[in-house]
Formats: sequence, structure tokens, C-alpha cells
Amino acid sequence: MSKITVSTLNKMKAEQQKITALTAYDASFAKLFHDNGVDVILVGDSLGMVLQGGDDTLGVTNQDIAYHTRSVRAGSRDLFVIADMPFMTYSNPEQSCKNAAELMRAGANMVKLEGGEWLYDSIVALTQQGIPVCGHLGLTPQSVHVFGGFKIQGRSDEQAQKMIHDAKALEAAGAQMVVLECIPSELAKLITDALSIPTIGIGAGKLTDGQILVMHDLVGISAGYIPKFSKNFLLETGNMPDAVKKYCADVKNGAFPSTEHEFK
Ligand code: KIV
Ligand code: NA
Repeated sequence: MSKITVSTLNKMKAEQQKITALTAYDASFAKLFHDNGVDVILVGDSLGMVLQGGDDTLGVTNQDIAYHTRSVRAGSRDLFVIADMPFMTYSNPEQSCKNAAELMRAGANMVKLEGGEWLYDSIVALTQQGIPVCGHLGLTPQSVHVFGGFKIQGRSDEQAQKMIHDAKALEAAGAQMVVLECIPSELAKLITDALSIPTIGIGAGKLTDGQILVMHDLVGISAGYIPKFSKNFLLETGNMPDAVKKYCADVKNGAFPSTEHEFK
């Protein structure tokens, strides 16, 4: 596969070709995923749960993400790598730029921040200084203690309107992509249609511009439980390369996610 850039991803949205994404935390899996058709690799702070065994993502540090971003980048120079900004590392523009710089130097192509309009100034500062930004709305796991658990977001009319407003604010600030996590499919479609930047869904139905899964969920080895929105692709394929190929094919042709994986 050739090198993917933000231009490629925009073009894919415009041409209605689905974007495939997976998390990875090391060189071997990152290369395997890329070689088998994955467009975007996320060094997610989900590593606090699937690698470190935590109950949530709050214990992850910027150094942790930088370490794993370096490992992932070593897998291939052609990867498009998004690095998560951990809990409390982007409270203001100055802190955001300092921490994001460390992730970019570690090999990221873009950084991801959880939140809506309150991130406006940080996103402006990051993009002005050459750091592409991905937003993240819906069930933003760094706010799990505010939500009172890992719960679907955007179910009320008021929440839905606020999320559409936040999504537009992220784009207006300069964000070049946005992840939508665990929201009703109808709302994910409204947001996807309202934005010119690509949306990547997880538990957000099939009408987003792309899909992402935590790699451990894709192969059914997450320590906790397999979320409703996920699917074990290893079960039906029997080996890793084919599981990844099947995931990518199913996302591209619209077979995944199906109605059993979505929230109404
Ligand atoms: O940390 C992560 O893996 C994520 C994805 C689930 C989007 O943020
Ligand atoms: Na994350």
C-alpha cells in the first residue's frame, strides 16, 4: 500500500470510499495491519486498558504514548499514525502544543484530543504550528467518571444538538478528522453529513466515513468483555492477516458494522 496522507483521507470521504482504522501499539502489528489494508493506525490511550490492564484510560502518560508511537512508526514509514493525547495533557493551547510536539517527534502524523468546542483555541494553536488534529466526540473515555460509566452518548435531542455544534466547532478550529464513539447511528450520519472532514466511527453505525476498532477486540482477546459494537474477526478467519483483510473488506463493502453492532 502507498503512503496515506490527510489529502488521501479527504479524497476518500469525497469519493465515498470507507476509511479503515485499527489501534496498534507496536511495530509488528502496525506493519501487519498496514500490509493487510488498514488505512489509519491509532496509538490509542486504550493501551491503558488493553496493555496496562487499567479500568480506564486515565493513568496513561504522554511518555507512554510517545514510546508506543515510536514503536508503531518503526513498523513502517508509510503508516498514517494518529497518537492519542492522554488525560489532562491538553488543558490549554500551550500545554497542548508542548505535549503534541513530543508525539509528533515520536513519529505521529496527527494527534487526537477528546472534547468539543472548549478545545477550539488549542486546535487553532496546534494546526497553526503544523500539528494536524483529530477530534473525538461521544463516549470520550477520559470523561468516564463524569458520565458515570462507559455509556452511549447523544441519546437526548439536547445532547445530539450539542454534539453537532461541537463537531462543527472542531472543524472550524482546523481539525482534519473526527472520531465518533458510541452514539446513535442517526446522529453519526447527521454529523458526517454536516462536516467536510472525515468521520471515523466506533459503535456509531455504518454511515460514518470510516471505522475503527481496538485491535484486541478485533481478535477477541480483550481482557474485559467484547463490546456490542465490536466483532471477533479471528473466529471466522483463523489467522491474523486474514482477520485484518476481512475487517477491511467488510468495512469497505458495508457489511461491518451491521445492525447488531449499532445503537439506535
Ligand atoms: O484509545 C483508543 O483506542 C481510541 C479509539 C477507541 C477510538 O480512542
Ligand atoms: Na483513546
